[in-house]
Amino acid sequence: MSQVLTHQQLLKIAGEFGTPLYVYHAERITEQYRRLQQAFTETNTAFFYACKALTNISVLKHIKSIGCNADCSSVNEVQLALMAGFSPQQVLYTSNNIAFSEIEKAVSLGVHVNIDSLSNLRKFGDKYGHSYPVGIRLRPNIMAGGNLKISTGHNKSKFGIPIEDTGKVIQLMKEKNLHIRTLHIHTGSEIKDVEVFARGIEVLFELIPHFPELEVIDLGGGFKVPYAPGEEGTDITLLGKKVKAEFEAIEKRYNRKLQIWFEPGKFLVSEAGYFIVQVNVLKQSGDTTFAGVNSGLNHLIRPMFYGSYHHIENISNATAALHRYNIVGNICETDNFAEDRMVAEIREDDYLVFYNAGAYGFEMASNYNSRFKPAEVLVKDNKSSLIRRRDTLEDILATQVVPAD
Ligand code: LLP
Repeated sequence: MSQVLTHQQLLKIAGEFGTPLYVYHAERITEQYRRLQQAFTETNTAFFYACKALTNISVLKHIKSIGCNADCSSVNEVQLALMAGFSPQQVLYTSNNIAFSEIEKAVSLGVHVNIDSLSNLRKFGDKYGHSYPVGIRLRPNIMAGGNLKISTGHNKSKFGIPIEDTGKVIQLMKEKNLHIRTLHIHTGSEIKDVEVFARGIEVLFELIPHFPELEVIDLGGGFKVPYAPGEEGTDITLLGKKVKAEFEAIEKRYNRKLQIWFEPGKFLVSEAGYFIVQVNVLKQSGDTTFAGVNSGLNHLIRPMFYGSYHHIENISNATAALHRYNIVGNICETDNFAEDRMVAEIREDDYLVFYNAGAYGFEMASNYNSRFKPAEVLVKDNKSSLIRRRDTLEDILATQVVPAD
């Protein structure tokens, strides 16, 4: 049985810290990490938390404390991870369409680097030759993922070096004496079907003999977690077994033992996060009841941006009869969190909780409409700590420069 924060706990935290509020449950993150470790005990596997999902430094510190590594998508994330206490060896930087100067910075910080273009790979070879091991992000031409915006491995995707250009990678490796240690693919987010990961390994299978210094196959992230009640996520145990079989085949065919890396984001933090809002206004229009809350797409953009489902409960009136609502935000454009959603009878001022708010929730929040971003709280050892205070008007003005007249 998964660890959850109860309605009572959430109500107490909301009362103490105010809303809108993101709440993260440290033990739930640990539980997910242990599940992963458990599923991969029989293979040489390392996990790098895709910290783009949630980068609050207190969360990063917790993830470091349980033994997980960090995967970063910008050099700023790399610096945050190092500040959180990860050693450079525990940090991976998977770049995507970035300036070469950012790769130079990552190298100066001593972290693992995955490169996703021939152009940057050539520059890397010119500057570092064999002196710094590097990973290659390949685009496997596999269509997978919850929706097109988060599908990254298909044959029209901007991500990675197209697999059909592997010959050019090999040529560059020889020409520049590159030390290629890792082959990386990431096909998308919310991949339920374990076969997709198996296919990814198979795509890389034939390439292995061409890379004599290869030590790592990095399969990226993208494990699906359940968002709606009754929905199922990726079967991690089955995935562990499939990956084991694929890697045994590699070992048998090439007599080489490779390490496997994964970069889970949602899997580690999505279910550990709760977003609590309050109802400002109830509005009736024909058959529709709008529940207008003190938040909007500026705080949780996933429903509007991807059409994502987030389960919502009224924690102030949980045992009341269910009614149908459109739960909407207070931003100056349509920001529906949920349409025709059955929720326990809502009254003004009630607290509503959005589940699965740990991944890409606060992280994608903005100050649109000059509204403050939510505060964040971490619950650990039954103690609730503020890990980000709410914005103030001074914060909104802090980076603005008013030119002298
Ligand atoms: N590795 C790489 C190279 C990635 O680009 C990503 C996610 C991950 C790992 C982690 O994927 P995850 O395990 O979290 O699915 N904002 C979107 C998700 C964007 C994912 C971007 N890349 C959402 O809210 O659904």
